[in-house]
Amino acid sequence: MSQQKTWGGRFTGETDNRVELFTESISFDQRLYREDILASQAHARMLAHVGLLTADEAQAIVGVLADIQAEIERGEFSYSVKLEDIHTHIEQALIKRLGDIGRKLHTGRSRNDQVITDVKLWTRNAIDVIDARLLEMQRALLANAEAHRDLVIPGYTHFQRAQPVLVPHYFLAYVEKHQRDRQRLADCRKRVNVLSLGTAALAGTSLPIDREFVRKELGFDSVAANSLDVSSDRDFVLEFVFDLSLIALHLAGWAEEWILWSTTEFNFIDLPDAFCTGSSIMPHKKNPDVLELIRGKSARVAAALTQLTLLVKGLPLAYNRDLQEDKEALFDAFDTVSASLELAAALVRGTTFRREVIASRIETGYLDATTLMEFFVKQGVPLRSAHEAVGKLIRQCEERRCRLSDLAPETFDAIQPGLSGKVGAVLGVANALAAFQSYGSTAPAQVAWQLDAWHERLK
Ligand code: ARG
Repeated sequence: MSQQKTWGGRFTGETDNRVELFTESISFDQRLYREDILASQAHARMLAHVGLLTADEAQAIVGVLADIQAEIERGEFSYSVKLEDIHTHIEQALIKRLGDIGRKLHTGRSRNDQVITDVKLWTRNAIDVIDARLLEMQRALLANAEAHRDLVIPGYTHFQRAQPVLVPHYFLAYVEKHQRDRQRLADCRKRVNVLSLGTAALAGTSLPIDREFVRKELGFDSVAANSLDVSSDRDFVLEFVFDLSLIALHLAGWAEEWILWSTTEFNFIDLPDAFCTGSSIMPHKKNPDVLELIRGKSARVAAALTQLTLLVKGLPLAYNRDLQEDKEALFDAFDTVSASLELAAALVRGTTFRREVIASRIETGYLDATTLMEFFVKQGVPLRSAHEAVGKLIRQCEERRCRLSDLAPETFDAIQPGLSGKVGAVLGVANALAAFQSYGSTAPAQVAWQLDAWHERLK
């Protein structure tokens, strides 16, 4: 009856089918098969190394595990909820082929340390995948920055026109955010890359295992020191999903901007046809669905983080079955961010700015007002008085429906005699932009060296 169950010995009755359906994880943890086999092969080699298996037994196990992997990859492996999870499936397939030798593989380990080892191996790779996608996104942003090197657009605060910025300055803002995303991942990877296998169920084992041997085999940096901690530790899952959430939020903010910029009202950018869709009723529509879904799917990632946070809340040491619920949230957050990044990078590469449209409207909205105020400061006017004076000039412009550069020269002399002859140098967007000089600003010279530095860094 329960001969297929690895824990069937102490049971006399069959498991209720509804319990099998309720408790299974094979439907989602089968994607851990590669990591499970890799860790089992390392474990078998270690068992031979310490004399718990013979060299021949270990070799047989390693070989049959490779066969099982090939079978899974050919799509010929069959799954059943009766075997609960990927760990049990692979062990049972091994036993079916190797009999008693297969029955020795689980020596000195538990599914509790096995599952976390698999998830760590998987997460380590997932971090590397996301990092590569972030790098491609950064390169796409940089390429577009280069293509619009001298283009000036309005910068916004409160989504109201504020000050002029260079397009490359805009793109490098996201390059910086994604650089922090990558740094966070690299930091998270350090805590992922600690070997959990060998802590067994919760307290360790009385068998003479060699964890250092397994560490080297699997490329972990160090060996987890407390067995009780390990089987309950999902910190690294939460940490990774938090990192993914922040990436998703960065993408969502950018997507929102570009959705607006692609409207007839803004008309700043032309999105590539291949990344837009049409309407089934309105023939003229070109909708930014990919951007909308990048924005929308960020909700799944934030939800995964919330789910994981609630999942671990109040869990006592050590393993609790609740922890099985970590994987779907982890996988979904990864899949969502991975796909979003891939599409985002392609979309950035394919988008061009409508230079004429932007140029025709750049002089509205007083983008030069703040630089004018700072110019007054340079002439010795106290900052607060300069702010007040420019505010009054704006009021005059509003009344006359004109720009600051259209005001009569005497207007400026009223603030400080002699100003009229000098303001021409800072009025208008081009002058305002050229006036910037602080480190990290949108000053053309600053942006130029930042561009060079990023080219070097992202080579
Ligand atoms: N399916 C379980 C999970 O994914 C594996 C560990 C089960 N351990 C146990 N003692 N029931 O978390």
